Amino acid sequence: MISQENNPYFEAGFSANNQETDVPSLEISGTIPEWIHGLLIRNGPGLVRSEKLVNHWFDGLSMLHRFEIRDGQVGYRSRFLDCNAYRAVKETGRIAYAEFATDPCKSLFQKVHTLFQGGPAITDSAKVNIANWNGRAFALGEPLMQAEFDKNTLERVGVFDYGQKEKTGVTTAHPHIDGARLYNLVQQFGARSFYQILSSDGGAVRKEASVGVGEPAYLHSFGMSRNYYIIAAGPLVVQPITLLVGARPFIENFQWKPERGTPFYLIDRATGKLAFQFKTPPFFSFHHVNAFEREDELVMDLVIYDDASIIQHYYLQRLANPEIELPFGRLCRFVFNFRTEKYTQEYLSEQCIELPHFDYAYGFARPDYRYVYGVSLRPDRRRGFYNQLIKIDLEARQDKVWHEEGCYPGEPVFVPAPDRTSEDDGVLLSVVLSADEQASFLLALDAKTMQETGRARLPQKVLFGFHGIFFRKKKRYEWLVGEWIQVAR
Ligand code: CO
Repeated sequence: MISQENNPYFEAGFSANNQETDVPSLEISGTIPEWIHGLLIRNGPGLVRSEKLVNHWFDGLSMLHRFEIRDGQVGYRSRFLDCNAYRAVKETGRIAYAEFATDPCKSLFQKVHTLFQGGPAITDSAKVNIANWNGRAFALGEPLMQAEFDKNTLERVGVFDYGQKEKTGVTTAHPHIDGARLYNLVQQFGARSFYQILSSDGGAVRKEASVGVGEPAYLHSFGMSRNYYIIAAGPLVVQPITLLVGARPFIENFQWKPERGTPFYLIDRATGKLAFQFKTPPFFSFHHVNAFEREDELVMDLVIYDDASIIQHYYLQRLANPEIELPFGRLCRFVFNFRTEKYTQEYLSEQCIELPHFDYAYGFARPDYRYVYGVSLRPDRRRGFYNQLIKIDLEARQDKVWHEEGCYPGEPVFVPAPDRTSEDDGVLLSVVLSADEQASFLLALDAKTMQETGRARLPQKVLFGFHGIFFRKKKRYEWLVGEWIQVAR
């Protein structure tokens, strides 16, 4: 048993359930800029313990965290995402649906409707990310059921399933949104498997592209530029039959086969046809960052690892050990030349980065986008969990960081200042766990300098989460009307 003394973040960050909470006004120190006006909504595990602890960071059931920021004040609300997986735990006290690396016990298999033929039903707890799709809010996960929720009450109001009635597939929690249209990668598993790009403007679902594949890769995100979809299919691959049999938890069916390298599929958005295929040395990646075109080239930035061992490191048993060092994710740029059909590969920073974030509304597919933010590990404190925030300047090739002793920050989300004068003119918001206080706070950093402007203290801890989004109010008076707008591109 790991005690709090030798692992100050584990219990607060990974292994105790969160509680549903309403706090109208959090205690502020410093200043939360008065121009910040809107909602930061974050997603991540909130329920990790029923009759026992889940196996993996990606296994807890979704909790939504809503920070309402206005006039320098911050209100907080948290709710579990209402779904079958959550109801089952409430009713039976046990996990009843298959999570990323945790399956329910065998006797529960028969009690729930099965999706893949042999195994337990896949979770509907959309725990990974939040989307702002035409002003509507969705909780996103990898199963084919994204949950729409009310931004104020956090109650679930609907489900979007990509029009897939046969749910023998998965999707990503990182769709792209271009105008009114949402694009996502869907993987169909079967005797022949497919990487598909599906899209919708809220109405009918359109199949944009489909690429056949024998052994599909684990894919957490995909790239999109103005003219291409990009799939970097690292060699963590699965024989689909093992998924259909369902004898093991989802991710444990995948095998690392480095001899395959990493195929990149570049699909023409206009025709849906595979336009180019490149193969690079093997790497593993969760997160594409941005992709853009210039002349004869496509440029693709991703956070990559030498292999897929980062997934093993996120098992809670391993995270409980504060002596273990996480593998460094590194921001890497691939440049593919269409004319010569050659490519180059270059690291953009020496530092560790994960949960990468950039100002999507401003920089999506723009060749001059300049800043990537994320969580990171201090080079002199590599043991344990992510303990600093980083800003990577792609043009100057410089990094800036924020860290504080005993603090473990989550994904930073950028909020642009009104009438801003540069891409990084704004604030970064991050939910930080203070191990000393065994409580979390919402940190506001000046994104230019990475210096703190202020923090809003929560009366409790927030388990380490994944992704979130800021819903910006366009003008102050619209608050009363309650009409939300999508962040202008
Ligand atoms: Co992600």
